[in-house]
Amino acid sequence: MKTLIETVGVTKHYGDYVALNDVTLKVDEGEMVAIVGPNGAGKTTLVNVLTGLLKPTAGLVRFKGDDIAGIGPVKLAKRGMARAFQLVHIFPEMTVAETIGVAVISQTSRGLDCFSSLASDGSVREEVREFAAIFGLDDKLDTPSRLLSQGEKKLLDIASAFALVPEVILLDEPTSGVASGDKHGIMKTLMDAAKRAGVKAIILVEHDMDLVAEYSTRIVAIQAGRVLADRAPAEFFSDPELIAAIVGKPVARHAVRTV
Ligand SMILES: Nc1ncnc2c1ncn2[C@@H]1O[C@H](COP(=O)(O)OP(=O)(O)OP(=O)(O)O)[C@@H](O)[C@H]1O
Ligand SMILES: [Mg+2]
Repeated sequence: MKTLIETVGVTKHYGDYVALNDVTLKVDEGEMVAIVGPNGAGKTTLVNVLTGLLKPTAGLVRFKGDDIAGIGPVKLAKRGMARAFQLVHIFPEMTVAETIGVAVISQTSRGLDCFSSLASDGSVREEVREFAAIFGLDDKLDTPSRLLSQGEKKLLDIASAFALVPEVILLDEPTSGVASGDKHGIMKTLMDAAKRAGVKAIILVEHDMDLVAEYSTRIVAIQAGRVLADRAPAEFFSDPELIAAIVGKPVARHAVRTV
C-alpha cells in the first residue's frame, strides 16, 4: 500500500516541556487510523505536526514523500490534506454557506473574490448546498455560525474540511461536545462522506472507544508524548493493560470490525 503520511523521530517541545517524544509512524492509503490516549498525551500536538501547523523540534514529517514540516494549512490543503479542529475554528459572523463556500472556492480556480462568487456563481452555491446537505446543515445555509449548536459547529468545521476535497483528512475529536446518542450518526456520516469524496486515508483522534472499535483499521496509542502501541484493533482490544493505560480503567469488550 502507498504510504501517504510518515513521521520519523518527531519530537516537539513547548519550552522545556516535551509534548512529543521520538514519534515514528506511517499512514497508508486505505487506512482509518485512530489516535488514542489520555488527556494531555500529545494527540492534538501530533495532529498539528502532521498538518504542518506546528514545526517539530526535531524529526521528519512527510506527506506523499514531501517534507511538510511547518508548511501551514493553506499550502497543505493545496497538496491534498485537510483537517477539522478539536476546538472549532469558525468565524462566528459568517453563515454556514459562506464558511463552506470559502473552502469550495479555495480548491477551484474561480478567482479570489469569495463572497461575490458565492452570491453570483450558481455552481458554487450548489456545491455548497451539497456539502451542507451531507452533514445535515442544508436548512441552515444562511444562519450565522455563531447561532449553531456545538454539534452543528463541529459538523460545519468538518464539512469545510471535506469541501477542500482532500486525499487525507485529520479529525481531532469530531464527536466531542456532541450528545452521545448522536456520535455514531456523526461517525457514519463522516465515513460515508469520506467514501463518496474518494478520501484515501483518515486520521481520527477519538476518546470514545466504541467508535474507535467500530471504525478504525489501526490504533496508535499515545502516552506522555510517546507511541505506546501501534496495532490492529483486534490486537489492541485484546490487551486489557493497554486499554487501561489509555482510558484509565478497563472497558467492556468491544465489537471490532473485521474488514
Ligand atoms: N502551545 C502550548 N504551549 C505549552 N504547552 C502546550 C501547548 N499546547 C499543548 N501543550 C501541552 O502539551 C501537552 C499535550 O497537549 P495536547 O493538546 O497535544 O494533548 P491531547 O492529547 O490532545 O489532550 P486532550 O485529550 O485533552 O485533547 C499537554 O500537557 C498540554 O498542556
Ligand atoms: Mg487534543
